[in-house]
Amino acid sequence: MKTQTSCLLSVHTFLLLLGLSRVAFSLPPPLPVPFIPPDCYLVDCGSPWQTRLDDGRAFRSDQESSPLLSTGRDVIASVGSISMTGSSDYQASFTIPLYRTARIFPDDAMYVFLASRPGLHWIRLYFHPIPHPVYNLANAVFSVTANELVLLSDFKVQDPTVLVFKEYLINLPANATKLVLKFTSRKDLFSFVNAIEFVSVPDSLISTSATAIPPTGGFQGSLLDYAYEVIYRLNVGGPPISPGNDTLMRTWQSDDPYMTFPQGASNVSVPFSTIKFPSQGATQDVAPYAVYATADQMTDSGVSQQDFNLTWEVSCDPSFSHLIRVHFCDIVSTSLNELYFNVYINGITAALALDLSLLTGGLDTPYYMDFVVSPSVIRNGSITIQLGPASSIEPNLPNVILNGLEVLKMSEHGSLDIPRGSNFGEPGLSANKKRIVAIAVLATGVSAALLLARKFVAGKKKDWEHMNHKSFSSSLRPLGNSRARLLSSRESYLSSLFGSTKSRTSFSSMFMSAGFGRLFSFKELQEATQCFSEKAAIGIGGFGKVYVGTLPDGSKVAIKRGNPTSQQGFNEFQTEIQMLSRVRHRHLVSLIGYCDENSEMILVYEYMANGPLRDHLHGSLNLTPLSWKQRLEICIGAARGLHYLHSGAAIIHRDVKSTNILLDENFIAKVSDFGLSKAAPNLDQTHVSTAVKGSIGYLDPEYFRRQQLSDKSDVYSFGVVLFEVLCSRPALDPGLPREQVSLAEWAMKMNREGTLRGIIDPRIVNEISSDSIAKFADAAEKCLAEDGVDRPTMSDVLWKLELALKLQEGFSDAGSPK
Ligand SMILES: *[C@@H]1O[C@H](CO)[C@@H](O)[C@H](O)[C@H]1NC(C)=O
Ligand SMILES: *[C@@H]1O[C@H](CO)[C@@H](O)[C@H](O)[C@H]1NC(C)=O
Ligand SMILES: *[C@@H]1O[C@H](CO)[C@@H](O)[C@H](O)[C@H]1NC(C)=O
Ligand SMILES: *[C@@H]1O[C@H](CO)[C@@H](O)[C@H](O)[C@H]1NC(C)=O
Ligand SMILES: *[C@@H]1O[C@H](CO)[C@@H](O)[C@H](O)[C@H]1NC(C)=O
Repeated sequence: MKTQTSCLLSVHTFLLLLGLSRVAFSLPPPLPVPFIPPDCYLVDCGSPWQTRLDDGRAFRSDQESSPLLSTGRDVIASVGSISMTGSSDYQASFTIPLYRTARIFPDDAMYVFLASRPGLHWIRLYFHPIPHPVYNLANAVFSVTANELVLLSDFKVQDPTVLVFKEYLINLPANATKLVLKFTSRKDLFSFVNAIEFVSVPDSLISTSATAIPPTGGFQGSLLDYAYEVIYRLNVGGPPISPGNDTLMRTWQSDDPYMTFPQGASNVSVPFSTIKFPSQGATQDVAPYAVYATADQMTDSGVSQQDFNLTWEVSCDPSFSHLIRVHFCDIVSTSLNELYFNVYINGITAALALDLSLLTGGLDTPYYMDFVVSPSVIRNGSITIQLGPASSIEPNLPNVILNGLEVLKMSEHGSLDIPRGSNFGEPGLSANKKRIVAIAVLATGVSAALLLARKFVAGKKKDWEHMNHKSFSSSLRPLGNSRARLLSSRESYLSSLFGSTKSRTSFSSMFMSAGFGRLFSFKELQEATQCFSEKAAIGIGGFGKVYVGTLPDGSKVAIKRGNPTSQQGFNEFQTEIQMLSRVRHRHLVSLIGYCDENSEMILVYEYMANGPLRDHLHGSLNLTPLSWKQRLEICIGAARGLHYLHSGAAIIHRDVKSTNILLDENFIAKVSDFGLSKAAPNLDQTHVSTAVKGSIGYLDPEYFRRQQLSDKSDVYSFGVVLFEVLCSRPALDPGLPREQVSLAEWAMKMNREGTLRGIIDPRIVNEISSDSIAKFADAAEKCLAEDGVDRPTMSDVLWKLELALKLQEGFSDAGSPK
């Protein structure tokens, strides 16, 4: 309880500070509320009193925090004052009071922090060897673990004048209820700590996917499966930012010391009010206004022939992968599509001809990109980030910008530190099962993806005009020589995709080098499915049949085999590749590979053991009913996937329904079937005009009426899915009385009349808290608003669903009927 109070207090102070700074700088209209962390433990170890920092945070005194600690003997050290030396950094200057006292542990010690919810959390540790009559803290050598994760191994404060600050970002798994922070030292030695923070972080801070450097054979899996140590966080082209000016109490340093050729750069800044955070994507929690409102650009940009890169070089630990997050906000261009530049990381092209206008749809709009740099490309213990103009694109004047840069070390085998001592170290600290690489995902090189995206946009206008003229049914009409037509259109499609006419083999190699996944031989897939036997068939769609297959290593995959003579199949196949090449997310079914032999069109996906959500709600299979909590988690997962599609990839799914939400063996929901998907319109258009496609019962009435597609059409369909989940009945049931046929209409009516409870799945109705129902029904109803503009975005829906889950958890915890 005390935790909460001190955090709330600090949040109020924070608001106050924000309020003040707004007056001082005449900042933009209402700033979003800073993040209020559900878990917030701030401990000033060894301090006789509470310590309040200038940014408003109150750290508990030693006595207040002693219930969290279990250890044998422990000792308190304190000094009157700490002098800042030249070697201490900017961060330390805000937190000096925390370094004045320490707790010394001659025995192993453990802090146990209860977590009110799983997900991302900061762990921040403060170390400074202050004098003590018995213990010389500068001699302490110790290890720190957080649950299973090794944060520090044989750690020693090398320079006793330095104020050490360590910042970690960890993702507590769903079943974790606490954080155990353990300090262990060698026999006859001891450990110490000056202050500890354990604080929740919005889960949106880490997206699940990133681009691998090098692009092939690189990063697979989800960023959420890793823990991180923050190595650098730089506000490029601007002043350092103190924790008090950051919604997540982060410190941003100036980038100056890391520029290798500062003469080549000049700083630019705009008032905060110029910055327009997008409705989806970068938020103030990702980085504050102060980061996006300043940048470095090329000196004398646009007046001379620029032929160099702006380069930042940071040192890093060569044994680990690193997550590089670059922040951009085009505050220099005067009109759209003026700025094109390349990003290189350690000499490797990370993004080619990056066009921020294309990615954000506007100027002054924050955007960030994540890259995972593998140790194989780290030379000399350093990472260089270079930005160079994409000179090939005329007639734009060459320039580049960078607004912010973060470098985070990624955990490897459950550790963020390697033992320095040779024959010391705990044996138990080795392999952690955190890294789940069960799911092979697309490792799309961003350069390829961007090239694709550019081509896609270039061709887009034409596509859409074409779309208007060509109705859906005409594309289904049999063609004179369908086979020949198919092959030729296929080839031209592939060459349009890759820019030149490629032979089949080189197509395959492009496919692979672009990171589209693994190439399977037809024979391999035949073996995996017993020659595509009917027994292995698990589904059928417009594209063809879906089979379950077992690869030689025992892993299961889903294999979608196109009917090579179907034009619709071919169209969906190409849409699916085009879309899947742009997306990667924990809640989207991922493509593992493909087979391109004998004119076959076969895609290989991760296998989703529990099949479509629909089968668990209604239908003939009579599966064990899902609990309300499971249903909520599934809806939240699917909403995350759709949110990513809309905001991260600018894709409209167009066929959201319960058969396209698949469940893996752990009932994690993933959205599938991108065969009908479309790129979302540019921001200056609000919709795409297109022939109506989708599934009856889920179809957005506005889209149907006006043939105008927007991401709000997906929101509508998702609203239908939500009611389907609540009521366990199909979206359309022609067997029912007329007013009940359409679930959307019926549920809305019942909800308005306050009788929704009467149509909830009777198998779960007693386990749901009414608050949770109310929140959930509210989300579903808003999704079903008649006009797209009145419907929420997927992130609003997500937020409401998370609240519904929280309300349900509170209800279950209170000991209510199961
Ligand atoms: C959480 O679940 C994982 C995998 O299901 C399991 O290995 C781990 O022991 C569980 N942790 C706790 C604290 O129950
Ligand atoms: C921007 O550049 C000018 C001139 O080089 C320098 O005086 C100023 O301190 C810089 N501002 C920041 C915030 O780095
Ligand atoms: C926020 O930034 C402003 C300007 O850079 C500075 O004057 C102020 O002290 C900062 N506030 C805090 C709490 O650090
Ligand atoms: C910029 O850096 C990249 C990667 O190191 C290099 O290939 C390129 O030649 C550089 N450009 C210029 C103009 O130096
Ligand atoms: C590695 O660092 C050393 C010393 O800083 C330097 O002399 C050498 O040129 C660097 N090597 C490379 C490949 O950058």
